[in-house]
Amino acid sequence: MKTVGAVMFISAAIVFSAQVGFAQSGDARAGKAAFTKSCATCHGLDGNSPKDAIAKLLKVEIPKLGAPQVQAKKDPEIKKTITEGYEKMKPVKGLTDKEVQNIMAFMRTIPKP
Ligand code: HEC
Repeated sequence: MKTVGAVMFISAAIVFSAQVGFAQSGDARAGKAAFTKSCATCHGLDGNSPKDAIAKLLKVEIPKLGAPQVQAKKDPEIKKTITEGYEKMKPVKGLTDKEVQNIMAFMRTIPKP
């Protein structure tokens, strides 16, 4: 019986740590879908092709998200940009915390333009 208990404890620990790891790192593939839905209108499908018309309308330059100065930002800053907005970018509404994590994971896969 002791062994069964130990095995159950270990598998519970593995499941738990896998979930925590997942939540922290986000899922870049799911993030791409959410990015397409919530960000691509302004940042382009790949994040590196900002839409000129929107930039003109807002009278601002939309940065390429693969650019070193954007990638240099830490996750909490990027999260804040998404949920609270940044200068001329309005907060993006209707995203779950998990979707934000996934979008950030996707953002880290955007290559240097
Ligand atoms: C309505 C258009 C629009 C949408 C939708 C949008 N953005 Fe932006 N984004 C902007 C503009 C405009 C800027 C530049 C803001 C400025 O510099 O004033 C910007 C800037 C940024 C920056 C750079 C901020 C910085 O610190 O330099 C990041 C990162 C970013 N957006 C991520 C996202 C993500 C992720 C999404 C989707 C969840 C998203 N944006 C959706 C318009 C948009």
